[in-house]
Amino acid sequence: MQKTQQFIQDNKEKFLNELLDLLKIPSVSADPAYAGDVQKTAAFVAESLTSAGADKVQIFETKGHPIVYGEKMIDPNLPTVLVYGHYDVQPPDPVDLWDSPPFEPVIKKTDIHPEGAIFARGACDDKGQMFMHVKAFEAMHASGELACNVKFMIEGEEEVGSDNLGTFCEEQKEMLACDVVLISDTSIIANDTPSISVGLRGLSYLEIEVTGPNKDLHSGVYGGAVGNPINILSKMIASLTDENNHITIPGFYDQVVDLTVEERAAMNKAPFSLEEYKKALDIEDVHGETGYTTLERASTRPTLDVNGIWGGYTGEGAKTVLPSKAYAKISMRLVPNQTSDEITELFSKHFKSIAPASVKVEVKPHHGGEPVVIPTDTPEYKAAASAMVETFGKEPIPQRGGGSIPIVALFEHVLGVKTVMMGFGLDSDDIHSPNEHYGLFNYYKGIETIPYFYKHYADMKK
Ligand code: BES
Ligand code: MN
Ligand code: MN
Repeated sequence: MQKTQQFIQDNKEKFLNELLDLLKIPSVSADPAYAGDVQKTAAFVAESLTSAGADKVQIFETKGHPIVYGEKMIDPNLPTVLVYGHYDVQPPDPVDLWDSPPFEPVIKKTDIHPEGAIFARGACDDKGQMFMHVKAFEAMHASGELACNVKFMIEGEEEVGSDNLGTFCEEQKEMLACDVVLISDTSIIANDTPSISVGLRGLSYLEIEVTGPNKDLHSGVYGGAVGNPINILSKMIASLTDENNHITIPGFYDQVVDLTVEERAAMNKAPFSLEEYKKALDIEDVHGETGYTTLERASTRPTLDVNGIWGGYTGEGAKTVLPSKAYAKISMRLVPNQTSDEITELFSKHFKSIAPASVKVEVKPHHGGEPVVIPTDTPEYKAAASAMVETFGKEPIPQRGGGSIPIVALFEHVLGVKTVMMGFGLDSDDIHSPNEHYGLFNYYKGIETIPYFYKHYADMKK
């Protein structure tokens, strides 16, 4: 890997400038106003793959945003790595909370990133991390040290639930045939504490509409006599958790696989400071399910959160109104063996059952995703761990993450292969938040580590 590593050192500035150009295109998948920019980003990714040396580069249109594919098949006897990532990003809102415009990347030093970090929407999630794979491939290819066959599948709909990717994988099963899926879209514990993600939570996401009277009413003339949908919705939501922050939906925990005492002890050994955690978020105390640590609450336990709630009058000043409607968006993070469909069903049934007769309740399911847990006693996990030892000089810690990547569960079902989640972001990189950033250390460390994965994986499969 000598030549590859030298190539990376010689091209650091070029690799950075190319990423900055990618970050300038606002590929917000959730907002149709950006559809043209999403297309432009797909074209940028395709072009990058081609110039890095990939063959059969193609932009596949879907019912939503396009999927970019490219491959380099060097030897049928070598294993094939399928790189998955996403080029779409979350909306940058609220834009006024950014210190610099979200699509005009700037590099600034921070306490955690003394070498500098790139501030832009998508810098870490996932343009920066996805692009490391394109650059690592470019370096391996240019140096004649590509140790595996490689395929790229880079999508534009991860942040909106990957609705069309499942069908694509089914339809293109043969094209996508591989031995392992490699993803960088998660985090490490710290820049001096490497870790590998061995779990993701699933997701059920729903939208609720509560309707009271057929029009907004005078809150003096009717107030007290007609059900106020906002009052009622708030009460219904409040009843979904008890005094121990346990979720009260009947059957919610039925399928949850409890961790063994040993598993809990092992995961709570991961370096973590509750004091620093609270300080970084400016909170006096944490909040969660009784009987579980913060690390457990944020990764191995299921959750229910209101993501948005609205209705009535929210403009300037006061308007006395008894609103006709109230709305909420609710997400539930799921753990093995909960399934998204079942939890969505349990929620809907329960939520309708607790509604008083004075209102009508509608529950609309949005996207979902299944939880995953990844074993560590496999050649692919060991190859990733060895790769990190080469570049961090330390054995990585296996860690279950709290976020979701909806397509990962499907890779095992449809393609029949395991996934390696070798992410390089930090939880403090503010993904989905204002001032998202990605450390230069992390970007380069990722590019340097990836080639070692290929090398060790090829060695282990010999
Ligand atoms: N990359 C994240 C998921 C992630 C982040 C996993 C950090 C582990 C650590 C991904 O882009 C994401 O944000 N997923 C969404 C799900 C999607 C259906 C909107 C999520 O987790 O909210
Ligand atoms: Mn992501
Ligand atoms: Mn994301």
